Amino acid sequence: MAVKHHSVARMRRRPRIPERVGRRRRHCLVAPRATGLDARDDATGHPVEAPGVLGSGQRRQRTATARLSANLGLLLLLPALLAPASGQGLEAFFEASGQVVRGTAPETRLYWRSHIDTSRARILQAANLAGGRRVATVLGSGLGMEIPLAELAGRFDRLVLVDLDGRSMLRSLDQVPRHLRSRVELKVMDVTSFAGALIESIDHAVDGSSSASEAFQRLGLILDELRAGDPAQLPPSDLVVSSLLLSEIPRYPFSYAAQAVETRFGAAIRTWDRSDEFFRGLVALAVEDHVRLLASLVEPEGVIYFSDTVARGLVRRPQGEAVQRSVEARAVPDFVRLGLAGSPAEVASAVDRLCRAEHSPAAESAAFERILSLYRDVGPEFFEPLLPVGRLRDRSAQLGLELRGSPESWWWLAYPCRIRAESGAFLVTNWILGLRN
Ligand SMILES: C[S@@+](CC[C@H](N)C(=O)[O-])C[C@H]1O[C@@H](n2cnc3c(N)ncnc32)[C@H](O)[C@@H]1O
Repeated sequence: MAVKHHSVARMRRRPRIPERVGRRRRHCLVAPRATGLDARDDATGHPVEAPGVLGSGQRRQRTATARLSANLGLLLLLPALLAPASGQGLEAFFEASGQVVRGTAPETRLYWRSHIDTSRARILQAANLAGGRRVATVLGSGLGMEIPLAELAGRFDRLVLVDLDGRSMLRSLDQVPRHLRSRVELKVMDVTSFAGALIESIDHAVDGSSSASEAFQRLGLILDELRAGDPAQLPPSDLVVSSLLLSEIPRYPFSYAAQAVETRFGAAIRTWDRSDEFFRGLVALAVEDHVRLLASLVEPEGVIYFSDTVARGLVRRPQGEAVQRSVEARAVPDFVRLGLAGSPAEVASAVDRLCRAEHSPAAESAAFERILSLYRDVGPEFFEPLLPVGRLRDRSAQLGLELRGSPESWWWLAYPCRIRAESGAFLVTNWILGLRN
């Protein structure tokens, strides 16, 4: 197994980790109140290991920790928030972020099972469609939570993993049997044409300013000049996997800028009237850059597995009771089937009892998924779109990519026990693509 470091940028003063802590809100999933959550204050992360079935000891632990669940994420984040990034450079910034994610509580990971299983199965479907067996490349592979690394190493001569968080990639190798590890290549590098240079420019802008408003003004100038460059240099691949990466790409430099200004001037980036525009500019750039990369990497007979978190919720709460009643009424058959409730009146209290380890994680996950789907049906506005899906589709088509089969969607219950207080789930959508003949 070869590990290659492609150092992108060295920085004098670095913020610590991407922004991951959500603001606390008081309201109920089924009896919600209007809140208007901030657009990007939640985490998209991944666990170290796949969740398993709870044993009795673990169930006791889960019961005890259930009460703490709302605060647990924050507690786990604190050490990483307080500690400066170890090591130097861009990789240290990404590794510190991976460290936060690796600290996710085991009971939270229990709810990730169905996302992980679905994702791994879809990646193997995509691998079956690939015309060759030489190279599989996984972009943003991180901990490889939702990637079937062992199976891919078994099927392809060469498995190239790419991420700026080298430590998480090393950890992910535990999944791969020893006799297959010689096929795996780790590349610690930027998958974009712009993130490294952008972070250097952010440093330059903030270090060279004497006030927050000057720093914001200079960040605005950077935004105006942002352009996608040549795609990152990686081997032509029979299978290209990009899973839960694209929506993250803009978050890292945005969080970096936010922390740089906060550290130097004590000013929140949200006080800048162009902060939303800055973030949207980064998203647009990331989409353009990433689609170009995917199209440039895939072999003519190859296949791209692309999936991402396209929306998250609930980020807004419905006003009044009509929506709540409608959701409760429609949830009854599923809650009865799952043994959680017997009548519409019981659905609200059944929701209150979720995350107290009274039911199996599978039943609770099914209940959360049902409720989220119902809210999405009755009020898509309760969810925040995370990617400009239309733009992504159009650019892919312009660059010669077409769908192989129908897209699929599923829920990733990232932090379901927090859903009553804040957003905690993501809608994942997957497309399998190939080059048009
Ligand atoms: C949500 S995680 C992906 C999860 C991963 N697919 C898994 O199975 O565990 C996003 C990953 O993208 C990586 N990443 C984000 N921006 C990157 C960039 N510009 N270059 C390389 N890696 C990047 C992060 O380090 C992180 O590991």
